[in-house]
Amino acid sequence: MPKDWYEWHDLYKTEPRLQQRLEIVQEFITHSLNASPDGTIRVVSVCAGDGRDLLGTLKNHPRAKDVYARLVELNPQLVERGRATIESLGLAKQIEFVNGDATIASNYVGAVPADIVIVCGVFGNLTDEAQLSRLLDNLRFLSKQGAFVIWTRGHSQGIAHSDTVRRILSASEFAEVNFKLTATGDMGVGIHRYQGENLPQPKEQQLFVFSGVPNRAR
Ligand SMILES: C[S@@+](CC[C@H](N)C(=O)[O-])C[C@H]1O[C@@H](n2cnc3c(N)ncnc32)[C@H](O)[C@@H]1O
Repeated sequence: MPKDWYEWHDLYKTEPRLQQRLEIVQEFITHSLNASPDGTIRVVSVCAGDGRDLLGTLKNHPRAKDVYARLVELNPQLVERGRATIESLGLAKQIEFVNGDATIASNYVGAVPADIVIVCGVFGNLTDEAQLSRLLDNLRFLSKQGAFVIWTRGHSQGIAHSDTVRRILSASEFAEVNFKLTATGDMGVGIHRYQGENLPQPKEQQLFVFSGVPNRAR
């Protein structure tokens, strides 16, 4: 059992569900980059971990030099590892890893509204459906009209939690572009497009409460 979020990332080495999830997330990031018009592509990643989903995609993507991204992550070791990857890719001028609280709206100022919003490994770490609705509502501050939102949600005890996410998203001006389950069958990955207008000011300073713990991550 991982004792912290840094150790939790080691599970990527052994857990098929996480490996398959990452593959699908990268496929959806690639789709978003390919569909983006010429010019700057703004990306934000909420609770970014070490940024392997976005950075691993940019490594081989022809639009990498168009991407201006802000990744927000609380764990300093993960941020350090992410920054080292950014350096190695030669993207330090365009990609910023903020060691800070991703639940706070001010940590996104200057980087939003984004064209691509990555919210992976987050929805399963909220207390209930009300918190999920709150975060999805606050995505209007992070997302441009037409932005791609890429998300994950694990299933547990036979409950398809990703169905709940899809239901709330489609009721809140997000149109589904694609949805896949991992081959393990218990992890949903979605890509939606925000159809509403961007909210230039956040409705509330705290966008959500992250209450998950690494040894029970869902
Ligand atoms: C399940 S992991 C997902 C990491 C990454 N997005 C991924 O999919 O590989 C959750 C991450 O959220 C981070 N986290 C938890 N609370 C946070 C907060 N308030 N602000 C920023 N990051 C936070 C943890 O440190 C951890 O890296």
